[in-house]
Amino acid sequence: MNRLDVVILAAGKGERMASKKPKVMHEIMGKPLIGYVVEVASSIGADHLFVVTGYGRESVEAFLADKGVTCVVQTEQLGTAHALSCADDHFTGNDILVLLGDVPFIQTETLLGFLDFCRRSGSIVFLTTDVDDPSGYGRVLMDGDTISDIREDAEATEDEKKIKRINTGICYIPFGSLGLLEQIGADNRKGERYLTDICKVAGNSGKAAKGFFHGIPEEVLGINTQKGLLEANILMRDMINEAHMAQGVTLLDNSICIEKGVRIGRDTVIASHCSITGETSIGEGVFVGPCSIIRNCVISDNVVIEGFVSMEGVEVKEDVKIGPFSRLRAKTVLGRGVKVGNFVEVKNSVLDDGTKASHLSYIGDCSIGKNVNIGAGTITCNYDGVNKHRTLIGDNVFVGSNTELIAPVTVGNDVLIGAGTTVTRDIPDGSLAVSRVRQKNVAGYRRK
Ligand code: UD1
Ligand code: CA
Repeated sequence: MNRLDVVILAAGKGERMASKKPKVMHEIMGKPLIGYVVEVASSIGADHLFVVTGYGRESVEAFLADKGVTCVVQTEQLGTAHALSCADDHFTGNDILVLLGDVPFIQTETLLGFLDFCRRSGSIVFLTTDVDDPSGYGRVLMDGDTISDIREDAEATEDEKKIKRINTGICYIPFGSLGLLEQIGADNRKGERYLTDICKVAGNSGKAAKGFFHGIPEEVLGINTQKGLLEANILMRDMINEAHMAQGVTLLDNSICIEKGVRIGRDTVIASHCSITGETSIGEGVFVGPCSIIRNCVISDNVVIEGFVSMEGVEVKEDVKIGPFSRLRAKTVLGRGVKVGNFVEVKNSVLDDGTKASHLSYIGDCSIGKNVNIGAGTITCNYDGVNKHRTLIGDNVFVGSNTELIAPVTVGNDVLIGAGTTVTRDIPDGSLAVSRVRQKNVAGYRRK
């Protein structure tokens, strides 16, 4: 079997995106376009992966640093044929598969079928499809089973523009045909060296290019505009959501965005407008209420998250109730049966089993024992303007409403803290702590 190298073209700015960011770094469901292409390219048994970078290469190369690819630079974007030539110092006799950095949905099985056809035909082969709206794509001019030419959108006549057979940009060039690249000129409206012109050049040298037809146009969508990016996001979102539904997850509408890689157990119900991203796993029988944002969290079975909760970097044990309107920040662990209610913010804190903070609190840098009740308005004063300090609270503590805990401070087990107390000193086990200015009533006083 012929050995293979892959070259991914990703040097263009993407003018039509009207953005400063290189096009291939725009994201579909949280991952840059180029990330999808590199992932599929890594799955087909190629010897080497090359990515041609240029515009905004610092950010593209930083993203690719740990992806097992070699980046080659195209300093000026002189067209797709020129981009491919930029990698030619690296070619060592392998055939070349060209992928485009802005065609991210292509699947492994499709490429394997394509490569199988290419190896058997031994020709230059372009992957083609038919689309209802071919505008923007190169139109494929067929002559029997060979491609006589590919007409770029900018060059096409009105009649050619009606052709629905388009070039996906994905092509295979046997090592022996790479020399043809040199014969490609830039005699066109954009003054670029088009890789697609290799068909004409090959025909003239008696090495006619072939077309491989793939009938799923969604898979070879090229993203050129913000509108195209939106369509791609919707497509990817729907694909991910369908996969979860097939595994027994209930999604209450199409607005839910779940990034690839998130795991969700069966009989979990997710309401509208939730965003679930990063390294997140959610157990079985969980309810996630509307408009909740969950990132990098591990959530166990039977947890109830009411709506409008924001949580990132949180571990949640079974039977916890959260929200509505709670904010849970990094390094927070909620034990079994914990309740965190409305307008409670928790950061870098552990709340052990059965503890409740139902309303209006800030809990930062705390370690809280079992079955503690945190009254409304409790604030941990964890920051002295320079350093953060911890608050330690034992088991079975009752923290009265509007308590301030000035950290560092330790509260023992079975403590009762009176409402309105400012805790500045440690409280031993079993004590009552109150710090309150005595109320004075002035008899017979009336406002003038
Ligand atoms: C290209 C094809 C077109 C095809 C379409 C499929 C050519 C000439 N045209 O058109 O036939 O229908 O893709 O989506 O090949 N790039 C470089 N260096 C350059 C120019 C481009 O690396 O000098 C990269 C871009 O970053 C991009 C890819 O090549 O990832 C395609 O370039 P783009 O300008 O988007 O080509 P299209 O006009 O879409
Ligand atoms: Ca394109």
